[in-house]
Amino acid sequence: MSSQTSEHCALRAEAARLDAALPRLVPPDRWQIPPGTLYLNGNSLGPCSVPAQDAVRAAMDQWAQVGVLGWSDGDAPWFDLAERVAARLAPLVGAHPGELVVGGTTTQQLHQLLGTFYRPTASRFRLLIEQGAFPTDRHAVDSQVAQHGLDPTETVMELPVDARGGLSPDAVAAAFASDVALAVLPGVVYTTGQRLPLADLTAAARRAGVRVVWDLSHSAGLVPHRLHDEAELAVFCTYKYLNGGPGSPAAAFVHQTLLPVRPAYRGWWGSDKTLQFAMDGRWTGAPDAGALQLGTPGILALAALAGSLELFDGIRMEDVLDRAGQLTDFLATAADALLAPWGVTVATPRDRAARGGHIALAHPDAAALTLALRARRVIVDYRPPNLLRLAPAPLYIDAATVLNAVERLADILAREEQALYIDRAARAAVT
Ligand SMILES: Cc1ncc(COP(=O)(O)O)c(C=O)c1O
Repeated sequence: MSSQTSEHCALRAEAARLDAALPRLVPPDRWQIPPGTLYLNGNSLGPCSVPAQDAVRAAMDQWAQVGVLGWSDGDAPWFDLAERVAARLAPLVGAHPGELVVGGTTTQQLHQLLGTFYRPTASRFRLLIEQGAFPTDRHAVDSQVAQHGLDPTETVMELPVDARGGLSPDAVAAAFASDVALAVLPGVVYTTGQRLPLADLTAAARRAGVRVVWDLSHSAGLVPHRLHDEAELAVFCTYKYLNGGPGSPAAAFVHQTLLPVRPAYRGWWGSDKTLQFAMDGRWTGAPDAGALQLGTPGILALAALAGSLELFDGIRMEDVLDRAGQLTDFLATAADALLAPWGVTVATPRDRAARGGHIALAHPDAAALTLALRARRVIVDYRPPNLLRLAPAPLYIDAATVLNAVERLADILAREEQALYIDRAARAAVT
């Protein structure tokens, strides 16, 4: 038996052991995974589910049957659907009632929080963000700084990352200096998958008088956040580990102590619900985070999110993270055994506590490998310059799927199949 074969055997045995030991959190028949694929891209867009489809159909039927009366009539009137979805979402991230608002995009929610809570003074004006932050976060930060007549190149301070893209939590805490007003930090870094210690950094920021807006797009629905205890402000999207659908409504968290809030940007949907239709031109904001809403919510998108949240019924977020930890451990182990010989390295921290839901694999041909994998029905993605991201999302992926994907990647590398895709990868952006 060759050493490669014995490695494969050991990994297959380990996959079987894990799948026997780790209970499935959601039955497979609740999902609509793209047929014939190994879907390891839930870090970008979670798959469609049966309850999400059912909920959208029900909203369409309601529209067809009662038209405009859908806003007010029936068992599930649309008028306060955003509030009901926020209330369902709140326990999944440890928010108290009224601390969460749902709607718009992550970018819009970030603008709303920065516009509202970034109040630079002569002595405290800097905005901190990590080097290589998700582009929209950086754009929002730069434009909010400019709104105050400040120069982003002088006002925005970048937290440096190391050669492997790692952020040192100690260095982040040390950067909370006396001239820093606000920091935008990721719960999980979108490239490397590194998870930051939310509670510790929030505490350090509080001691230094710095406000943090957390972008939890890569940890909501994965990490058992206790936002009420661990954060003051946060935003997150709901289309990754919460499986809300493409472009599903985003969320913002505002701690109770910061409520009621006078939002920088007001719209009629942020009104106190009892006064929204007074139509007297006065704005009386909702007493809770709902005040951050702007205009009429997209009901079909909200319906899909409401349906997808049903998948979390009866599930403990601790079990979700535990399963994610076991599957990402296994993915890293399989990558070491089968991919390291081809020059692939694991760019995600080995320490489970410092890791989110995906594993980033570094290889110079990462873009071409992503295309080669997709041609073999393994759905992953690429982030420049050299990272492949694979997410064994714990609600629907098992260890056998993880191993199958790694084996296909090893086979591609062994055959140098990525060479077929180098030109295409260089010509077009690989999303
Ligand atoms: C960290 C992070 N923030 C924000 C976004 C997206 O923002 P929006 O929902 O406004 O497109 C993403 C999308 O992948 C992301 O990874």
